[in-house]
Amino acid sequence: MGVTALIGLQWGDEGKGKIVDVLARSMHVVVRAQGGANAGHTVIADGVKYVLHLIPSGMLSPGVRGVIGNGVVVDPFQVLKEIEALEAAGHEISGRLAISGRAHLVLPWHGLLDSALETERGEFSLGTTRRGIGPAYMDKTARDGIRACELLDEVRLVRTVRETGMRRNRMLAAMGSPVVPLDELLDRLLPAAQSLRGLIVDTVDLLHGALARGQSILLEGAQGALLDLDLGTYPFVTSSNCHLGGLLAGSGLPPASIERVIGVSKAYATRVGSGPFPTEEAGPVGDALRKRGGEFGATTGRPRRCGWLDLPALRFAVATNGVTEIALTKSDVLSGQPVLRFACSYKDAADGALGFPPPELLGEASPVYTDLPGFDGDLGGVDRFQSLPVSLRSLVEAIEQACRVPVSILSTGPGREHVIWR
Ligand code: IMP
Repeated sequence: MGVTALIGLQWGDEGKGKIVDVLARSMHVVVRAQGGANAGHTVIADGVKYVLHLIPSGMLSPGVRGVIGNGVVVDPFQVLKEIEALEAAGHEISGRLAISGRAHLVLPWHGLLDSALETERGEFSLGTTRRGIGPAYMDKTARDGIRACELLDEVRLVRTVRETGMRRNRMLAAMGSPVVPLDELLDRLLPAAQSLRGLIVDTVDLLHGALARGQSILLEGAQGALLDLDLGTYPFVTSSNCHLGGLLAGSGLPPASIERVIGVSKAYATRVGSGPFPTEEAGPVGDALRKRGGEFGATTGRPRRCGWLDLPALRFAVATNGVTEIALTKSDVLSGQPVLRFACSYKDAADGALGFPPPELLGEASPVYTDLPGFDGDLGGVDRFQSLPVSLRSLVEAIEQACRVPVSILSTGPGREHVIWR
């Protein structure tokens, strides 16, 4: 049955949670492979709103197995909180969730370091979620991280937390930050380790077993292509590879197992945090999109910057990730705009295959727009592509022409039922 990968094509928050939720019902296993609790996947299932940060959103479908892969950075307290909240809402999770022993832990000093680094950067701050994600990956690449497998051995865990914690506290103190009381941390961490112990397994083996049995697997990307550490708008990016390659390395699945790469994009664009956003609308248009689209961060509550869809950016994301089809979300949010606009190219862009300027030029780059007449009304009841407003269909066709892949899924509202399959 193979692997489907789902990747955000913008700066995160593309509505991936809802598409995962719709696809997961036909999956055996759903996998998170990169990022951490900086992600906030909002899903409305049976009228109830869930915001998941670490647990794969596909686990809201009963019976689907969930994996937190080796590439994820896991806050043990956050994952327990999510398990408890979902189980209180009637979803059985602990019997279906596996956490990779290779996954690195996010511990309280990471959040403090994230904040201290952001404060030091002053006006050049990145606008991180301050969830400690960057510092956790810093420790991982410095070969100084603590992995989930270390939760399995209490004696070793106490020793490692004390040794690493003392070194991190020295760094924090030098930066003028509060430090982590290590005894208090261990008082909380040891019971958490005990609760998580049964979930920590070799997820690479588990996933290869699922592949061998012919099971279907969904890789749930977090963040988005333009936040990718290597290919995004560096330095205003997250610290993992949101790229398809990151999902492979972060799960241990082989490239040849990938059958579909679904890229998710909103019908407009948003960005939370700092960094270039050439199609941003800072005035009333952006305000209207934010209000209608409920564009406030699922993790931090910050208002998202809003603007128009950027086709060169989308083409770049589709091409670099080998996306085979696009899921276009939140198309209903464009309703009521007097004009429907999208960027079709960049002024003075160097002649190139993709036409999306590199990060160092993006701040000065001017998009060239195409305008279409706006449309009104509720799309909630529309279940056929041909019944959609003409301008929305033209937008979909422009996306397909620019990116050379089909828009196969179109979301027309927040609920599971508001989806048109093409
Ligand atoms: P970090 O991932 O917390 O280090 O933040 C780095 C940048 O990525 C900031 O601009 C964040 O707002 C952004 N970011 C991280 N995770 C998400 C997400 O899930 N959605 C949208 N933006 C995100």
